[in-house]
Amino acid sequence: MKKIAVVGLGYVGLPLSLQFAKKGVAVVGLDIDAEKVQLLRDGLSDIKHIPSEHVSTAVRDSLLDPTTDFSRVAEVDAVIICVPTPLNKYREPDLSYVLETGRAIAPHLRSGALVVLESTTYPGTTEKELREVLEAGSGLVAGKDFHLAFSPEREDPGNPDSKVAKIPKVVGGFTPACLDAAVSLYSIAVERIVPVSSCAAAEATKLTENIFRSVNIALVNELKMIYERMGIDIWEIIAAAKTKPFGFMAFYPGPGLGGHCIPIDPFYLTWKAREFGMHTRFIELAGEVNASMPEYVIAKVVDALNRQGKAVRGSKILLLGLAYKADVDDIRESPSLVLIERLEALGAKVDFNDPYVPVIPVTREHGALLGRESQPVSADYDCLVVATAHSEYNGASLAALGIPIVDSRGIVPPGPNVLRA
Ligand SMILES: NC(=O)c1ccc[n+]([C@@H]2O[C@H](COP(=O)([O-])OP(=O)(O)OC[C@H]3O[C@@H](n4cnc5c(N)ncnc54)[C@H](O)[C@@H]3O)[C@@H](O)[C@H]2O)c1
Repeated sequence: MKKIAVVGLGYVGLPLSLQFAKKGVAVVGLDIDAEKVQLLRDGLSDIKHIPSEHVSTAVRDSLLDPTTDFSRVAEVDAVIICVPTPLNKYREPDLSYVLETGRAIAPHLRSGALVVLESTTYPGTTEKELREVLEAGSGLVAGKDFHLAFSPEREDPGNPDSKVAKIPKVVGGFTPACLDAAVSLYSIAVERIVPVSSCAAAEATKLTENIFRSVNIALVNELKMIYERMGIDIWEIIAAAKTKPFGFMAFYPGPGLGGHCIPIDPFYLTWKAREFGMHTRFIELAGEVNASMPEYVIAKVVDALNRQGKAVRGSKILLLGLAYKADVDDIRESPSLVLIERLEALGAKVDFNDPYVPVIPVTREHGALLGRESQPVSADYDCLVVATAHSEYNGASLAALGIPIVDSRGIVPPGPNVLRA
């Protein structure tokens, strides 16, 4: 296996491309975003945790060749698809990016090539929807003329130990030969491969991992609210409970779910389940609890201001942390954006601070916030709201500002001015 193509050079596709390049595999990096392709060709990374020098070295050594030219698929032995799988406005799976990619690569697919889908999706996508467009566009037959597989991406953004090579890779094939081809491809770049019985099994594995997180986060969010009424601090409870060496895994509450995966992926299964006459109550309840968290934080802001004899209308509020999780610059689906909009709808003047997000970039649903700039942390506000636990935020220093704080991340020491949310 000498040359591969990776389609979609984003959070998943770029590090994967670089890992293959590091192992001496030539990667044709395909993306429809011409600006991004040019940036990468110039040796620059647009993802904070990927250093530009990794990109420039791979490009210089001709191991990464970013391009928008899909006919280059004719040169490669394998194509790995890492394009977005969002929800549409009805919160239903949007496979258009995957199918568009299938249509774009199919006419150029070589006989004997391997196609692997990495985008998170519901069970059946690879073997039905993707296979159909590939076969229709290429005239080839999956499992006979070309190999087809699914292998989900697993990444822990912001975790410096989350390295492509070190994270075991689940792989399912359309046929046993497809599985063999995919296992031997990933074995070049990843230390441990976990083969499963089918593409659908690999698709279901990924959804199970993310649903597990969503449900457990909802559980601690619910416990947080119950314990708060009892005068018990959930953060103290989790710290104590996680000393149990078996049967407990720590999940933490927060102002709501964010990121590309946990708020979205569970609904791929929920949607598909209906076809099988099933209603995924657990998953939807978790989504409901997590989605209500911004309202809970706002209720605490109202409470904090009320204690000072102030109303939300006319108050100056500083939101700490725009990114959806600590120490990353990713604001996709971030509840902070919802918090800003809802507090402003109540008449507050809201600023934000985020060391990783100096300016609010283009977002799908929060266009009105575009271009706003991060403001310094100061006591010049009626209330601080801790939405993200960036390492730069020191709880004791924040408390020393002496103004009311609503803390949804448990980083500020308890005190008369501090409300946990
Ligand atoms: N980001 C994560 O941590 C993560 C983790 C696990 C799984 N995933 C899954 O991986 C997939 C990709 O996510 P991501 O975070 O890398 O997305 P991303 O938005 O960072 O990157 C997607 C890239 O695909 C490109 N693209 C869109 N349509 C295209 C097309 N038709 N042809 C070629 N390129 C196209 C975009 O320009 C972009 O560069 C999604 O299914 C996501 O659910 C993401």
